[in-house]
Amino acid sequence: MLLIKTKKELLSQLSLAKRKGSLGLVPTMGALHQGHVSLVVKASSENTTTVVTIFVNPTQFDNQEDLHKYPSTLKADVALLEKISKEIIVFVPIASEIYGNEIASKTYNFEGLDKVMEGAFRDDHFNGVGTIVETLLKLVRPDRAYFGEKDFQQLQVIRKMVKLKKLPVVIVGCPIVREPNGLAMSSRNERLTKSMRNEASFIYETLQTAKLKFGTKSAPKVIAWVEEKFNKHHSLKLEYIEITDIETLTPIQRKQKNVKYRAFVAVYADDVRLIDNIALN
Ligand code: PAJ
Repeated sequence: MLLIKTKKELLSQLSLAKRKGSLGLVPTMGALHQGHVSLVVKASSENTTTVVTIFVNPTQFDNQEDLHKYPSTLKADVALLEKISKEIIVFVPIASEIYGNEIASKTYNFEGLDKVMEGAFRDDHFNGVGTIVETLLKLVRPDRAYFGEKDFQQLQVIRKMVKLKKLPVVIVGCPIVREPNGLAMSSRNERLTKSMRNEASFIYETLQTAKLKFGTKSAPKVIAWVEEKFNKHHSLKLEYIEITDIETLTPIQRKQKNVKYRAFVAVYADDVRLIDNIALN
């Protein structure tokens, strides 16, 4: 395994790696857990070499405090990656390697994908994500890049960016990895108390029942049922529940055959904001 900090060294290692075979890319912000590991394991099984990037991207944070509070566990991250495969290159740049002197994001036309749910309250968030992922894809030029369905909206935004920019890469979406109690894995789970972590299993339980109900009931009825369930729950506060077409992320009007839907939630557990989603059909 190689740990690389500069673009220059990365490019020279990449030219060696590309002679050996295919290349996978897994972008992360570090503080790695089993959700990230699943992406790296999949990438390693499908490519000769896998590049894992660890970079807390400043342009996707609308809140400076959030950015500065973001956990950094590089030693543990490297130890985790070392166990997966020898053919991994870990790229850990500082901001100036990526952005030069001007830390700013580009503006994309994501055709509305960025305006709903996670984008609705976080100004410019997805422009920041698009900017870093485009930069990394152009730098590494992988055959495939791997992203989790945990951040399903992000995955769709990235697919759109790749299409807009005509980048020659296959974007691979990977299923959500959960704790034994169903809570979607996230570095933010570390900030939950033990009892809150237990209680948060309610989120996935509720999504699973919502999925069952979606088989027979209308979307507004399912949404009202989820809202009611959370209203009765004392310690979890629902920020939003949306049921959308998975391609456009627009809220469902009336169920249509041949359209795939997902339910998305954001929930506060104390001051920790958790997101989750589930395929409905
Ligand atoms: P980060 O939150 O570190 O996540 C890196 C990747 O891991 C993302 O594709 C995310 O969807 C995936 N992931 C996180 N938790 C997961 C889980 N429980 N199951 C499956 N996949 C999971 O997402 C980002 O970083 C950044 O926005 C990034 C894409 C790196 C751009 O800065």
